[in-house]
Amino acid sequence: MNSIQVAIMMGSQSDLAVMEEAAKILKDFNAPYEMKVLSAHRTPKETSAYAESLKERGVKVVICGAGASAALSGVVAAHTILPVIGIPIDATSLNGMDALLSTVQMPPGIPVGSVAIGKPGAKNAALLALRILALSDETVADKLEEFKETQRQKILNIQL
Ligand code: RP5
Repeated sequence: MNSIQVAIMMGSQSDLAVMEEAAKILKDFNAPYEMKVLSAHRTPKETSAYAESLKERGVKVVICGAGASAALSGVVAAHTILPVIGIPIDATSLNGMDALLSTVQMPPGIPVGSVAIGKPGAKNAALLALRILALSDETVADKLEEFKETQRQKILNIQL
């Protein structure tokens, strides 16, 4: 796996602390990724052009994080047939409920797989992206099995 497999997009640099949680997991799994700040509202043309370029560049999955009236994942999903995973970010006084509803309430025909708000969602977005890659990559599949076993052992080793 040498070419970029996962594109991580975010609507603002202020989303980086959350999105880094996804990047860390992809790094641990040696899954090549790139990160890009592009906004559905502030850079609409550049966002569309980037989304349209991803499939021909060999990218397999897109992870998008955005807060407030979060349109990024939906706009990206409108410009590519790649699977898009949306992370609602807690960026406003509504603590991410605004972004959750924007991300999850896509109209039929333009799917976005929404995960949980914030850092837990970012972690699961990366793991879900890896599960998609694992469908055609046995090395990733083996690592996911190891990860699952490690989590199992951690729970079973708890002594109260
Ligand atoms: C969204 O608005 C971004 O994804 C971010 O979560 C939120 C606030 O952006 P900034 O004002 O911090 O740039 O588009």
